[in-house]
Amino acid sequence: MRRTVRFVLVMVGVAVMTLFAAAVAYAGPGDVIGTKHNLGSAGNPACLVCHTPHDAKGSYLWARNVGSGSGLKPLCYSCHDGTVTNTGSYAFDATKYQHPVTPGSKGQDCDRCHNPHSNTWKFLTLSQTNADLCTTCHGKSGSNNHPIDVLADKWPPTDQVWDPKATPTPDFSGTRLWDSAGTTVVTTGSGYVKCLTCHNPHGASTDTLNTMPTSSATDGSSPLCQNCHK
Ligand code: HEC
Ligand code: HEC
Ligand code: HEC
Ligand code: HEC
Ligand code: HEC
Ligand code: HEC
Repeated sequence: MRRTVRFVLVMVGVAVMTLFAAAVAYAGPGDVIGTKHNLGSAGNPACLVCHTPHDAKGSYLWARNVGSGSGLKPLCYSCHDGTVTNTGSYAFDATKYQHPVTPGSKGQDCDRCHNPHSNTWKFLTLSQTNADLCTTCHGKSGSNNHPIDVLADKWPPTDQVWDPKATPTPDFSGTRLWDSAGTTVVTTGSGYVKCLTCHNPHGASTDTLNTMPTSSATDGSSPLCQNCHK
């Protein structure tokens, strides 16, 4: 009996600690300081770069001229259209496949994956799984799926470059390998297969968001698979 009571108390303690840990781990707006989204400086607070208390120009008390579209996209686009940064301009390229969002729906918009205030995780995302963040919503890992988190030393891709920022011509072909944590792209030699090896949420070449076409338009080959399995 005593044992059971003690066990229950321990379990309650664990539950409380878990809740506390979750509360501590939660990223708040203040976390924007120190990220790439901290565009503030002395006398020009970071918050006011994006938000204004009065006479706002868009939802979330938006301080900037908003871009086109509805939901969060026009807010993001107020900088990512090249006016403040060219980074991610392909994230808005209508000629490329993009991960679907439901504009204006909380948690279903760009905030399906991004937290504009925090880079606790890579790519300003909501998930610590980094290049495997897709698994948060899509159960596509495990024994009945293509292996992920495996070293590609046996099957390294021929074309390992996927670089929409390449100049003068962006490169939207090639599968990317990652370090084991899935935070850094490995551009030469072997690395790990992750979800983002074959997929990209922005600037993808197929409606299943693959980095390379899965089927050739001229014969029965598969550029994506045969990039590794030659
Ligand atoms: C790079 C632009 C940017 C900066 C800088 C920024 N925010 Fe935000 N903020 C956003 C966007 C976009 C949203 C709406 C999306 C969301 O809630 O994730 C938002 C939402 C919010 C919300 C509403 C959250 C909610 O859940 O409804 C608050 C409060 C907020 N920001 C406060 C701040 C404060 C305080 C700062 C400065 C410490 C700050 N923001 C800096 C872009 C920014
Ligand atoms: C106030 C201008 C501004 C706004 C608004 C803004 N960004 Fe950014 N964002 C930037 C800048 C500047 C960078 C850094 C560019 C660089 O490193 O070259 C950046 C970088 C990023 C990155 C790359 C982060 C990394 O670690 O490499 C992502 C992802 C991103 N922004 C997403 C968003 C999303 C999503 C929104 C809307 C919710 C948004 N941004 C709104 C200015 C902005
Ligand atoms: C399904 C998840 C997902 C959704 C939804 C999503 N993103 Fe992203 N986004 C990512 C990931 C992952 C990256 C990092 C890309 C990479 O390097 O593979 C990224 C990168 C970016 C970048 C930086 C690109 C660069 O050049 O480094 C911007 C800007 C961006 N996203 C904006 C947006 C905006 C705006 C929306 C909403 C219209 C959005 N994202 C919706 C997952 C998502
Ligand atoms: C926060 C949850 C979430 C995350 C994370 C997420 N997805 Fe999705 N994804 C969805 C939802 C929801 C849909 C269904 C589309 C809809 O109804 O708007 C979807 C649809 C898709 C589709 C179908 C394409 C289409 O146009 O309908 C593909 C492919 C896909 N996701 C791949 C990915 C990949 C790859 C990643 C990782 C980069 C990812 N998803 C991350 C929620 C998510
Ligand atoms: C080796 C390459 C490869 C890897 C790694 C990979 N995928 Fe895929 N994925 C594909 C291909 C190819 C398709 C399209 C299949 C088709 O057209 O039938 C696809 C389709 C999908 C779809 C849309 C179709 C559906 O059945 O809903 C989702 C969602 C998806 N993958 C998620 C993931 C997630 C999550 C991961 C990481 C756990 C992942 N993928 C890793 C190649 C890959
Ligand atoms: C980035 C490189 C890469 C790409 C692209 C790729 N694979 Fe793989 N594939 C691998 C690696 C690495 C393994 C694991 C090899 C090992 O452990 O022996 C693997 C394993 C496999 C296996 C064996 C799985 C098992 O359970 O034994 C099959 C089948 C396979 N891949 C099919 C495909 C198909 C189909 C595609 C295209 C949709 C594809 N691969 C794309 C790298 C890749």
